[in-house]
Amino acid sequence: MYKVTVIGSGNWGSVAAKLIASNTLKLHSFHDEVRMWVFEEKLPSGEKLTDVINKTNENVKYLPGIKLGKNVVADPDLENAVKDANMLVFVTPHQFVEGICKRLAGKIRADAEGISLIKGMEVKKEGPSMISNLITKQLGINCSVLMGANIANEIAMEKFSEATVGYNQNKSAADRWVQLFCTPYFNVTAVQDVEGVELCGTLKNAVAIAAGFVDGLEMGNNTKVSLKDLMAQKISSPFPQLLDAAIMRIGLKEMMTFSKMCFPSVKDSTFFESCGVADLITTCMGGRNRKVADAYARNGGKRSFDELEAEMLQGQKLQGVLTAKEVHEVLSNRGWLHIFPLFSAVHAISTGRLPPSAIVKINEEQLSKLALDAFLL
Ligand SMILES: NC(=O)c1ccc[n+]([C@@H]2O[C@H](COP(=O)([O-])OP(=O)(O)OC[C@H]3O[C@@H](n4cnc5c(N)ncnc54)[C@H](O)[C@@H]3O)[C@@H](O)[C@H]2O)c1
Repeated sequence: MYKVTVIGSGNWGSVAAKLIASNTLKLHSFHDEVRMWVFEEKLPSGEKLTDVINKTNENVKYLPGIKLGKNVVADPDLENAVKDANMLVFVTPHQFVEGICKRLAGKIRADAEGISLIKGMEVKKEGPSMISNLITKQLGINCSVLMGANIANEIAMEKFSEATVGYNQNKSAADRWVQLFCTPYFNVTAVQDVEGVELCGTLKNAVAIAAGFVDGLEMGNNTKVSLKDLMAQKISSPFPQLLDAAIMRIGLKEMMTFSKMCFPSVKDSTFFESCGVADLITTCMGGRNRKVADAYARNGGKRSFDELEAEMLQGQKLQGVLTAKEVHEVLSNRGWLHIFPLFSAVHAISTGRLPPSAIVKINEEQLSKLALDAFLL
């Protein structure tokens, strides 16, 4: 029998627990109970989040209004939450994974398998290291990934969506993950390309920041970037949909180039799965990265991302700005900045070295020069 623990209980973590719990009740090879590790917080009422989840069967802070399933048990004790599990689902903001793995080393079952739903990467001198790889190295377990065009709140309401499992060698483990996540409204397929799937999920958040800048400029700051200015900068269209389309096109190209330059085994076909172009479009059209970047541009870059994140996301975390910083580190270490004008510009704008309006200079040659100039300052 397989026993599942979900490590993380934010917006997506709670939806993952709900999906899984509906399946473990039906599938005989899985224990019914799904443990969910909760980073304990005190609610404004003074109650502990874990107690409230176990009492109401709802994550009132990160997924209010949705029942998780009576077989989901919230547990604030990380070691206790994983001790019996042999299927570990990692779903926290990526900045916390390393600390969590350090606490788990030597404490998990020898036959455990992992899957990461986390978007982000670590940057080492040798290049980018994906979260699934960090989990494998620190815990000595095989780790697949699940990424896709998924907006947690929509899947929580059982709206149809697709996702992709990326795996390395272990096809039977991948099939088990597919079985555990698939529901009539959540369609999951597996591909043998763990880095490709994970890089798609990670890099699209940086592209969504660019899409947010474009929208913020158009909607809120017409005095700074007027139609005349836009035309003078030889923009192909002043309409945000067309600029968004251009951002997505350049973004997809940079995502593919970056992934293949860092990991030559990455397959082109992976970009046409749910984790690739579908997730890129979804994230650029909606979602928190775009929303906060939009506000950043509307404010002319005068309010920091940290400030806007705290104000707009109520404890949820933004991934795209951090990813753009990590990508930038890889690009500057390897002397690749000029090949990735969009990624470079997103980092330069989000750190205040270029104004938000720089993003509408979608001529790649210009962007490339701007990005380089910003780093030579
Ligand atoms: N929300 C979505 O729609 C969505 C969809 C697909 C993938 N993802 C990815 O899932 C991952 C998790 O995102 P989420 O939406 O579940 O989280 P979230 O941003 O909604 O919530 C933040 C979580 O981090 C926890 N936390 C805060 N400080 C912590 C600490 N010091 N140590 C450990 N945990 C701490 C909070 O308790 C909370 O559970 C991210 O990588 C995200 O990119 C999210």
